[in-house]
Amino acid sequence: MKVLRVLANPKAVENSASLQVEQAFTAALKQTHPDAQVVTIDVYRDEVPLLDGKLLPAFFGAPPADAETERKRGRQKAILDQFLAADLVVIATPMWNFNAPPMLKAFIDTILVAGKTFKYTASGPVGLVAGKKAVLCMASGGVYEGAMAAYDTLTPMLKTQLGFIGVTDVTVLSAAGQGGGGEKAAASTAAAIEKAKAAAAKF
Ligand SMILES: Cc1cc2nc3c(=O)[nH]c(=O)nc-3n(C[C@H](O)[C@H](O)[C@H](O)COP(=O)(O)O)c2cc1C
Repeated sequence: MKVLRVLANPKAVENSASLQVEQAFTAALKQTHPDAQVVTIDVYRDEVPLLDGKLLPAFFGAPPADAETERKRGRQKAILDQFLAADLVVIATPMWNFNAPPMLKAFIDTILVAGKTFKYTASGPVGLVAGKKAVLCMASGGVYEGAMAAYDTLTPMLKTQLGFIGVTDVTVLSAAGQGGGGEKAAASTAAAIEKAKAAAAKF
């Protein structure tokens, strides 16, 4: 099994519930699958080029405007290849302003590529990624249930983006309610870690 970890949090793991949940999941997964090949992209430490005025035309197939744009386009292709090679993609992300940190969006903008991960047909868009699974390890200050559920635009965004390219088997592990701090936050993280261990055993 090939596993891609996508870490989208600039914090250190000891200060991050989402990273701790991800670590627990991946550690448990390695126990079940000692032969798993795990690679990591840390979108706050590894380069994920932003689609700017020069890179955008190259992303859509135009000749790169200069050497730097060509290099960035090469980096984008390497990120896409890494994603395509994985059987399982584990994303660790905090909720920031009800959504994802911007570098996770930059990663998503790199892997949603017409002709590679989706295509348009006469009957609408079709995902080209088959057989890949995803696990979302998330943490938020609040708890998004009941009347507050609609404020969580992170979970539906990631599910929509992954589903669009054909990744529909998505497991969500959430350490919500970190804003309370103290014992409540610790209990939420501990519960999500237990869920992560149980989820890992099923892969
Ligand atoms: C810039 C920023 C924006 C945040 N926005 C929200 C938010 O909209 N809703 C929420 O519930 N928590 C929000 N939080 C709190 C984080 O989601 C919370 O601290 C969570 O534990 C972060 O995950 P981590 O522990 O893995 O870093 C925000 C935190 C930061 C730093």
